[in-house]
Amino acid sequence: MSEDTISVPAQWRAQHPTTPHIVSLLDYHALYNESIQNPSAFWSKQAKELLSFTRDFHTTNTGSLENGDNAWFVGGGLNACFNCVDRHAIQDPHRAAIIYEPDNPADESRVITYSELLRHVSQLVGFLRERGVRKGNIVTIYMPMIPEAVVAVLACARIGAIHSVVFAGFSAEALRDRIQDAKSTVVITTDEGRRGGKTISTKRVVDEAARECPEITTLLVYKRTGADIPWMAGRDVWWDEELKRYPAYTPRKSWIQRTTCSYFTHPDRLESRKDTAGYLLGAAVTGKYVFDIHPEDRFFCSGDIGWITGHTYVVYAPLALGCTTVIFEGTPTYPSHTRFWEIIQRHACTHFYGAPTAFRLLKRSIEKKDLQNIDNSQLRVLGSVGEPIAPEIWKWYYEFMGNENAAVTDTYWQTETGSHIIAAYAGVTPMKPGSATLPCLGIDLAIIDPVSDEELKGNLVEGVLAIKQPWPSMARTIRGNHDRYMDSYFNVYKGYYFTGDGAFRDQDGYYWIRGRVDDVINVSGHRLSTSEIESALIEHASVAEAAVIGVPDELTGQAINAIVSLKNNHMTETIERDLVVQIRTTIGPFAAPKKVLVVQDLPKTRSGKIVRRILRKMLTGETEFGDTSTATDPSVLGEILKVISCV
Ligand code: PRX
Repeated sequence: MSEDTISVPAQWRAQHPTTPHIVSLLDYHALYNESIQNPSAFWSKQAKELLSFTRDFHTTNTGSLENGDNAWFVGGGLNACFNCVDRHAIQDPHRAAIIYEPDNPADESRVITYSELLRHVSQLVGFLRERGVRKGNIVTIYMPMIPEAVVAVLACARIGAIHSVVFAGFSAEALRDRIQDAKSTVVITTDEGRRGGKTISTKRVVDEAARECPEITTLLVYKRTGADIPWMAGRDVWWDEELKRYPAYTPRKSWIQRTTCSYFTHPDRLESRKDTAGYLLGAAVTGKYVFDIHPEDRFFCSGDIGWITGHTYVVYAPLALGCTTVIFEGTPTYPSHTRFWEIIQRHACTHFYGAPTAFRLLKRSIEKKDLQNIDNSQLRVLGSVGEPIAPEIWKWYYEFMGNENAAVTDTYWQTETGSHIIAAYAGVTPMKPGSATLPCLGIDLAIIDPVSDEELKGNLVEGVLAIKQPWPSMARTIRGNHDRYMDSYFNVYKGYYFTGDGAFRDQDGYYWIRGRVDDVINVSGHRLSTSEIESALIEHASVAEAAVIGVPDELTGQAINAIVSLKNNHMTETIERDLVVQIRTTIGPFAAPKKVLVVQDLPKTRSGKIVRRILRKMLTGETEFGDTSTATDPSVLGEILKVISCV
């Protein structure tokens, strides 16, 4: 192995409270080879071991990547909620399922056992069913990170309804579009939320969104703060008052679910549909082997359940494996920068999973002396997700969060993949700061040369990352737009799943993710499509044309720069600010551009396409723009450069 490798800490295995699920790299290789050489047998065995089926499947998988028609566990039936709640409640009812850490550490945290979780979920199922929610309907959930959000997700899964969890940072307009797309008649929210000491007016946002969603018949409101809020009699109902009327257990026959009905909406409007059993198996297998989760563990993933990280690793993976999931309502810096360490200590967390954007922020302000009263020696595994983690941030994480005792796993994956694709197996894979390391079980990777479209074999190759074999938690379609699904993932390189990321395979076969090769921007681990932001800008009455570019940013990974031209070049004093507000209200504050540049005209090809490549080079300070001869009017470039240099 090359010299930048860090071996698993010597005491890792010695201090393990039980026995790791995989004990050596050889074991990993043996399992991996089995998963690639005989995937059907491998996944069938894993499914039977980790999931409880109500009806056995007769075929492990069918279809091909070429045709984009993969299906898993065909003929089988299971219920995701039964797998995440009932079977643990039956076996060990008093085990903690959820630990809730409120935004303000002075407020009391709550522990919800598996049997309590089963009761809460069953009562919500009773309510939802009475309100007409059936298998296949979509319930929209717009809630802060509180246990009731997880209860809502699981209640939908129990019915076989689809949960569309909309991140509570989205604006009323963005929420409205998602409710309309989903045709939700039932929406679940809170009176308010709290985040980083600030109030989020969840109910007010839903009220505003609902003005244009006449199909909503029920708005279920959990009382989080007790604030005075507007109320629409007949439509709005309180969670606490309603749910107690329903039985604490829903009988089994009403919730058997075929394996093909779980969807969720991704915030950038990509709506994927997954096999329930396949998705749950991806979550459980990666939870078990990548994170080495055991039932006694307390797993703290700081992601929001409105994004895929929270979806899979706050809810489904830890609960499918029967451990305790820690739900944190707040932010890493409130009330102080040591909040994560304090939570990990207070709840004796064995795992922590977060994003490099938070680590970069904390690295700036935390000193060793701030942590001298912290004892987090029980912490075994540290995960990183969402964007590449720079080697110096990796090393900081290893040292400051894990005291060089915990294994670090940089997990590369995507909403569409459902669960990890490349990751170090905790306690097993020798680590390299900055590399996501080796492929996960069942994931057959390929690096494709973007010029020749040929797969590049061997090590020391760089190109586009693709996957050659189907895996259970992959998205099976985009709801209502299967052609887009085929074009985005399967028609780019025939026979491969196209990830959209560039990658390098080093001399040891380790993977280094280089970032997106398409027009996706990653700001603080939030994936945003440039076209959605550009559409929001163009909706503004003064904007003629807009181009959105992601530029490197020390803190957020990438930052959004918007370049616009105005109708009749009619400049106003407040235009830049107005356009930031426009994006905040159309999408949400997390999509707000760091810079808005107003120019006379944008560089275009003769056929009228905006040449973003040139704009990107200008914004990143490059002086060579490549071939500019296709731009309609080269003089516009000089004017844009002038504007850039003035900002
Ligand atoms: O570009 C990759 C980046 O995030 C994209 C997926 O975004 P999303 O669907 O929102 O899911 C984020 C959480 C899984 C990928 O195409 N990405 C995610 N994890 C990593 C990463 N880039 C580098 N290293 C990672 N560990």
